[in-house]
Amino acid sequence: MKNDLDIRPLAPACGAEVFGLDLKAATAETMKRVQGALAEHQVLFFRGQDFTPEDQVAVTRKFGPILRVPFVKHMDEHPDIIAVLKEAEEKKIGTFGGTWHSDFSFLDEPPSLTLLYARELPAVGGDTLWASQYLAYEALSEGMRRLLDPLVAIQTGWPHGTRGPGYDTPGLSKSIKMVRNDPAADREIRHPVVRVHPWTGRKALFVNPVYTHRFEGMSEAESKPILEYLYAHAVKPEFTCRLRWDVGTLAVWDNRCLLHLAINDYDGSRRLLHRTTVAGERPAGIH
Ligand code: SIN
Repeated sequence: MKNDLDIRPLAPACGAEVFGLDLKAATAETMKRVQGALAEHQVLFFRGQDFTPEDQVAVTRKFGPILRVPFVKHMDEHPDIIAVLKEAEEKKIGTFGGTWHSDFSFLDEPPSLTLLYARELPAVGGDTLWASQYLAYEALSEGMRRLLDPLVAIQTGWPHGTRGPGYDTPGLSKSIKMVRNDPAADREIRHPVVRVHPWTGRKALFVNPVYTHRFEGMSEAESKPILEYLYAHAVKPEFTCRLRWDVGTLAVWDNRCLLHLAINDYDGSRRLLHRTTVAGERPAGIH
């Protein structure tokens, strides 16, 4: 493979496939062009990559310093990688990433980028969706943007609605070991509801139904109608793209301007992807 960038947008909102690039061999100069393409398309799909786990870690480092996200078990033999696995016999259970979210948005400094590499796939199904939060923000009325611009959202690592006595760990695939009962995950973190992207200066909505609990200064009941409106608005089909994976496809996406969702429609098949994350910064707001 050469290092020419052959970029083909997958949808007008976000997402582009990149052909003819071996990321293992990509030079610093090429990576600058990749970053430019990522800033434009928000999520890139590199087809036909041939990675060992060590290669994936080395390629991740080309995008920035690796972040080992807390509260979820990484692979014993590859501590920078999470195995996102659902076995064929694991039926009628949840899957990692099966609700729209931005990865670990409840951290002080959430990961900027996520890299997900497909190793084993169902014959059909197991696609992933992304939704541009730039477009979601820009499509709101001026009045709603004015309301949201100064607001702060309270986020925590306990998926919303899953706290409290009697709550049982939801049926996630057995490979995903979430660390529960850690007070550090339960800390309330303040992040702007409208985030300014450090590369582009564009504003993006930065709330999601997994980690956002309420607006600062408002109760959950008061916040709920607005948040529910935003969650439905944020993932309108015209803001999205959908990837049909091939083994060897690497997706690299920007959590600062996208939500994403793993579609859990492949009971009876095995799906295995390897996931790494790049360190990010404290989200910047408008004030
Ligand atoms: C994730 O949310 O990190 C996983 C997405 C997927 O499995 O498609």
